[in-house]
Amino acid sequence: MNRTIAVYPGSFDPVHHGHLDVIDRCRPLFGEVVVAVLANEEKQPCFSVDERLEMLRELLADRPGCRVESFSGLLVDFMDRLGARCVVRGLRAVSDFEYEFQMALMNRRLNPRVETVFMMPHEDYSYLSSRLVKEVFRLGGDLTGLVPQPVLERLGRRLGAGAAPAPRRAAEPAR
Ligand code: PNS
Repeated sequence: MNRTIAVYPGSFDPVHHGHLDVIDRCRPLFGEVVVAVLANEEKQPCFSVDERLEMLRELLADRPGCRVESFSGLLVDFMDRLGARCVVRGLRAVSDFEYEFQMALMNRRLNPRVETVFMMPHEDYSYLSSRLVKEVFRLGGDLTGLVPQPVLERLGRRLGAGAAPAPRRAAEPAR
């Protein structure tokens, strides 16, 4: 039985299909995937930690082997408390690499038992980020297929119904 715990940390503000794709790629590889929401952010988030936990738990309810937790302080300390050694991070493009490389090496320096594994999300999501999701939603753009429906509904309640996505642009023929 595979007892390896993978910790997938992030802000998840909000979770999108790129995140869920990475989680689904991890599930067959690890005994348990712990999705870890950072709770001590300095920047002003769109959703509270409790809201983000709720969304993730709702979306992962039908995915056995997944657990959603929040953490504050150092990731490596949280991992020690869980008895986990493997961090999973999504790598979308080369532009992600430098930041991820620094974090992986700093985490290893802080705790040499910790290894970082990079997973490439499906190429359909390689440009997707929570920051862009919020921006496109605010401006009324179409997020169909990029963000789960419960998250779209919460975005509507948080950012206003006026920002509800309209699918018209995606339906237009490509020029
Ligand atoms: O989705 P994000 O915002 O890119 O995730 C960043 C995250 C949460 C993985 C990173 O900020 C983190 O691990 N923070 C916890 C504090 C910590 O351990 N800092 C040292 C990292 S080298």
